[in-house]
Amino acid sequence: MKAILYRRYGPPEVLEYGELPEPKITDRQLLVKVHAASVNPVDWKFRSGKPRIPFLKLPRIPGLDIAGEAVRVGNAVSRFKTGDVVYGMLSAFSGGGCAEYAAVPDRNAAIKPRNLTFEEAAAVPVAAMTALQAMRDHGKIKSGDRVLINGASGGVGSFAVQIAKANGAEVTAVTSRKNTDFVKGLGADHVIDYTAEDFTKSDSSFDIIFDPVASRSFTECKPRLSPKGVYISTLPSLDTILRIVIGSIVGGKRARLVNLGARASDLELLTEWIEAGWVRPMIDKIFPLSKTAEAHAYSETGHARGKITIHISD
Ligand SMILES: NC(=O)c1ccc[n+]([C@@H]2O[C@H](COP(=O)([O-])OP(=O)(O)OC[C@H]3O[C@@H](n4cnc5c(N)ncnc54)[C@H](OP(=O)(O)O)[C@@H]3O)[C@@H](O)[C@H]2O)c1
Repeated sequence: MKAILYRRYGPPEVLEYGELPEPKITDRQLLVKVHAASVNPVDWKFRSGKPRIPFLKLPRIPGLDIAGEAVRVGNAVSRFKTGDVVYGMLSAFSGGGCAEYAAVPDRNAAIKPRNLTFEEAAAVPVAAMTALQAMRDHGKIKSGDRVLINGASGGVGSFAVQIAKANGAEVTAVTSRKNTDFVKGLGADHVIDYTAEDFTKSDSSFDIIFDPVASRSFTECKPRLSPKGVYISTLPSLDTILRIVIGSIVGGKRARLVNLGARASDLELLTEWIEAGWVRPMIDKIFPLSKTAEAHAYSETGHARGKITIHISD
């Protein structure tokens, strides 16, 4: 099968386009003919080797998000059959999305939303589940909450804005000026241009501050949190970890860290919301598989608008 792989850590140029054997599946996996994959920052962070992730094996095929057709199912798989059109997330340790075939754990897969293309469906799993778990599990979001999303135009942020709106929140989106109309189109009630205004110095207060780009600390955001408000980040820092510990003892304003866990039930919920028209993936660029290195380089700019996807087969 055609695949992208890297044999050593380094810049996007370490990615090679070549031929590899099809993966073998276990009893609890599906062999999926991959039509599309997507790029997430974790792909190029792992590829860069900075920091070096223990237990990661080289050569490695990058990519965690896939959408495609199940061509074989493991003996212990009961939720899927051959021919099902699915989307899902591969294990972060194994990777394997940027290839014509991938072995997908059945607990990380669901039937693809009917109203999405393969490229759109592949854009969903990592980014949308991260946003969902941040809002629902860590933020305990409820109707009427005031929610601020820093990095609202990115992969995770663009889903977070829509999920917060779907839950009845009043949403403030923080982005740069060029993305103002984009985040309003996602449903944001208010927009702050971070190049002109520092939201941590505003007069507003928020029940949830979600910072997927982790450009601001809990300490900076604390004055903007309501008395029982929560700051949620995707990247560990000493400031956040200290506050998680202190908050668990004394209460008050809290900090939380999202550590994405793939769940079929979350993908099924997202399928429902997508088919109901409440949430939709926003695609910035689609690259062919052979240009995955360019897709990584574009993601590494840190300024993609929505998601970057990889077209693999028709
Ligand atoms: N912990 C976990 O389980 C987990 C799961 C998923 C993702 N993550 C992490 O979450 C982070 C975000 O992921 P992503 O997919 O959303 O990334 P992304 O799509 O690459 O984010 C790009 C967006 O960030 C915005 N941005 C850049 N600098 C900003 C700043 N200083 N203030 C506000 N917005 C800024 C950009 O907007 P402008 O162009 O307007 O600047 C752009 O739209 C990554 O570090 C990723 O590794 C962690």
